[in-house]
Amino acid sequence: MIYCFSGTGNSLHAAHTLAGLLRERVIRITDETQPCPAWQGADETFGLVFPVYGWGMPRVVEHFIARLPQAGSDGARYVYAVLTCGDDIGRTDRLLRKALWQRGWRLQAVFSLQMRNTYVCLPGFDIDAPKTVEQKDSQARLRLQHIARCVGARGSSTPGDVVPGAFPWTKSYLLRPLFNRWLTSDRHFHCHAARCTGCGLCKRTCPLHNIALDPQAHTPRWQGRCTHCLGCYHCCPHHAIDYGFFSRHKGQVKIIG
Ligand SMILES: Cc1cc2nc3c(=O)[nH]c(=O)nc-3n(C[C@H](O)[C@H](O)[C@H](O)COP(=O)(O)O)c2cc1C
Repeated sequence: MIYCFSGTGNSLHAAHTLAGLLRERVIRITDETQPCPAWQGADETFGLVFPVYGWGMPRVVEHFIARLPQAGSDGARYVYAVLTCGDDIGRTDRLLRKALWQRGWRLQAVFSLQMRNTYVCLPGFDIDAPKTVEQKDSQARLRLQHIARCVGARGSSTPGDVVPGAFPWTKSYLLRPLFNRWLTSDRHFHCHAARCTGCGLCKRTCPLHNIALDPQAHTPRWQGRCTHCLGCYHCCPHHAIDYGFFSRHKGQVKIIG
């Protein structure tokens, strides 16, 4: 079974590609997902595929792992994870390993997978140029085949299977808490009423069902359960949604899936 969280579709695409190669099933994680996987046999694998946010795990994934049943005698199952990212993951693999270990689960293999960047909310961060996307896509296809071979053989990953980037400790243990504290609340989302047509696509796209539409104006209202995937920002056909000042005039990615 592959459990997947995805805001804008990269991780979902990776999960479905892996599932095709491994003949597995994909289940999407949301806050309502029951995390009690029904293990069908000793051979069954438990895969997690999700994006890296602020050099750590999205909040919804942290919640999912915290609700996993404590592993008992069946703790020998094969557990692996694929962390999609725009650039690098810092020490997200270690944060994940520790979170799983606290539930008694052992992470046997972890891979980072560079895909289209979706983060646009700080100065210097924007979506990738088309040429970069092309390069990342073709490399990701090869990486997914490598991951499928390793997982198919119930293998372990090597340190080369993750890209921590520069200053990984600083990013994941010093910057990440600040990022989570100040830059992930949905209070900073803003809808430009003059551009919004009230189509409701943002509401339908939000994987956490965190958006309600204003009964009169039909503009989005965020409800405080945001994991900061930016699905609402990217999906808006009129670019009517911003996240603070710095996301203005940035690009949008096409949502996959
Ligand atoms: C809030 C947020 C934070 C992000 N932080 C990182 C990061 O720390 N490192 C990185 O390489 N990419 C980062 N990204 C980019 C995403 O991890 C990457 O584009 C991912 O593949 C998106 O997956 P999805 O389409 O399944 O949501 C971030 C994206 C968002 C929306």
